[in-house]
Amino acid sequence: MDCLKAISVKEAALLKGSIEIQGSKNTVLPIMAATLLSSGISVIYNCPMIEDVQVMCQLLECLHVKTRLEDHVLTIDTRNASYEVLPDTLTKKLRSSVLLLGPILARWQKAEIGMPGGCAIGQRPIDIHLEGLMRMNVDVRVHKDILTCETFYLQGTEYHLHFPSVGATENLIMAAVGAKGRTILRGAAKEPEIIELCNYLLSMGALIEGVGTDVLIIKGTGELTSCDYCNVYDRIVAGTYLLMAAAVPSDIKLTGIEDIHYLKNVIQVASKLGVNVIKFEHYLSIQSLGKVLANDFKTGIYPEFPTDLQPVLITVLLKAGGNSSVTETVFENRFGIVKELAKLDAKIDIKGQTAFIKGNARLQGHTVKAADLRQGAALVIAGLICKGYTTVTDISYIERGYEDIVRDLQSVGVEATYV
Ligand code: EPZ
Repeated sequence: MDCLKAISVKEAALLKGSIEIQGSKNTVLPIMAATLLSSGISVIYNCPMIEDVQVMCQLLECLHVKTRLEDHVLTIDTRNASYEVLPDTLTKKLRSSVLLLGPILARWQKAEIGMPGGCAIGQRPIDIHLEGLMRMNVDVRVHKDILTCETFYLQGTEYHLHFPSVGATENLIMAAVGAKGRTILRGAAKEPEIIELCNYLLSMGALIEGVGTDVLIIKGTGELTSCDYCNVYDRIVAGTYLLMAAAVPSDIKLTGIEDIHYLKNVIQVASKLGVNVIKFEHYLSIQSLGKVLANDFKTGIYPEFPTDLQPVLITVLLKAGGNSSVTETVFENRFGIVKELAKLDAKIDIKGQTAFIKGNARLQGHTVKAADLRQGAALVIAGLICKGYTTVTDISYIERGYEDIVRDLQSVGVEATYV
């Protein structure tokens, strides 16, 4: 799909059909990193076939790990893994490259890796990752975008994260597994991705208490045993389509959703927007009249409404019968969507961390540019509520996290194509 650089979407009058929800990106990436904590073969089922997974495979391959991704089954063989420097040309392609730091240190007591990249949605420092590692006896140096970390041995510690960073929590859990003694992480993130990682590590033989809470107690166990993992559905992809249904009359199913626990916060918001959601055994049935109810919303750390869905929420609120607002509390610079939506005639004002959205918008199709993953997906959704055709360029950002957004939209009757 590399040569396809834009998506064209036609205004939609009705959404009808079903979408199979892909496996979770943000769950599988840390689990891929965690395979380094063992020496053996791990099979990950329901793995999304997306760009970020490909890059993580390349990073593992730099460490002489064998990876094979075929038909949503990812096999990782760490038996011959050996220490290497990870170049910043590769680490810059992915924020989650930083998650290799904990496992590499646990395995080899040293790490030299390029600084991470990722979507431009704020400053995205890694101070919490590094501070936590330093507390575990790691000497950290940064020189010209290369991070050099060394330890005689990782020492269990007690550390309070000054913000519940998802990535830092994941990194420190994985380092703590390979540390001597007990680590207590306070103020830890509680996102579903952390719970999945902890459950995976437990099945590999790790000792972790407090899973799902903000205090995690990890007893260092050294090398773990390789284990298979069946990935959960992607709650952000599911949420994208749940919110989309608010803006267009809909009668759709989202399949592959066994458990709605991780999606409750999004279902609550979708209901406030006017979407009716019914849970069946293996799918969600979603109906709406396409009449969005205006309201004020706020993103937050789990279990609050996810920041990753904020651009889609703003987009959908343009169709509301009145004015709405969305306050962003997780990232300090995540309103990139607003500039592009203005090209479609949207009226949105930003004051501080709040976007004020003028409802009853009469949007006009135009060419807009994806600049990050979720903003890009939201622009595709915007195409459904714009008169005529909307073209979204630079779709490689979208392909980092959505397997095939065009296929998904076509399966509910949308006229969407790659151009
Ligand atoms: C994860 O990123 C997700 N990525 C993001 O999804 C998501 O937006 C984010 O969590 C918040 O839910 C993955 O799981 C791969 P954070 P992460 O560290 O771990 C600040 C997507 O679209 N912070 O919880 O990088 C940071 O600047 C992606 O799928 C520090 O100050 O997020 C931000 O304001 C985008 N110092 C806040 O914490 C640090 O050391 C949350 O970041 C680390 C973070």
